[in-house]
Amino acid sequence: MRHETIEKSVNLMMVLIVVAISIGGLVEIIPLMLSSDATQPDEGIAPYAALRLEGRDIYVREGCGNCHSQMIRPFRSETERYGPYTTAGETVYDRPFLFGSKRTGPDLARVGGRYSDDWQRLHLKDPRALVPESNMPGYPWLAENIVDPELVTAKLRTLQFLGDPYTDRQIAEAAGQVEGKTEMDALIAYLQELGTNRRARR
Ligand code: HEC
Repeated sequence: MRHETIEKSVNLMMVLIVVAISIGGLVEIIPLMLSSDATQPDEGIAPYAALRLEGRDIYVREGCGNCHSQMIRPFRSETERYGPYTTAGETVYDRPFLFGSKRTGPDLARVGGRYSDDWQRLHLKDPRALVPESNMPGYPWLAENIVDPELVTAKLRTLQFLGDPYTDRQIAEAAGQVEGKTEMDALIAYLQELGTNRRARR
């Protein structure tokens, strides 16, 4: 009888659904927010240096994450192919995280150092020059766009404000580190570091 009252009232039903889902959501989310596994960086994991931070933003802007995940699952088929599985502690400085689930191309979480800078440069300009069967688009304009040092400095300052442990010195030096660099340089610096901190600890 009581059940019938709920089923016949759309509004009451909606309110109760929201309450039920909220409780479920909170039970899942709150422990994660408090767990040090998910909020503390793993050993060797530091906030992104200026050029790499910019590279990461270009990665997001260009939609690389639509085809590439950055999360190696803890299964043998994945760890054999890509390397050690991804932990929450190595992604604490990722805002937003780029785990993804769509793999048109391979996972990139451990791609740092797998190829030379020259390979990356050529591949990003024209993937089919190196991998004839590739369906990855080329990004030639990245080699022409110059990174804006002021914007990078502002980004570091904002991240510091949000709690990432950047020192004032790192912020002061940021502009000099990206001066005259192209977006291609920044993206490659980012790619070449992916997973290297973690791999070194193995
Ligand atoms: C339409 C899907 C698609 C998009 C978008 C895309 N890629 Fe790819 N990517 C692929 C495919 C497929 C491969 C495998 C063939 C190859 O190497 O070109 C690949 C390979 C790669 C590799 C080599 C990985 C390895 O382990 O061999 C890197 C590095 C890479 N992509 C980086 C990027 C970056 C950076 C962007 C954004 C600027 C990007 N990709 C955008 C599909 C994509």
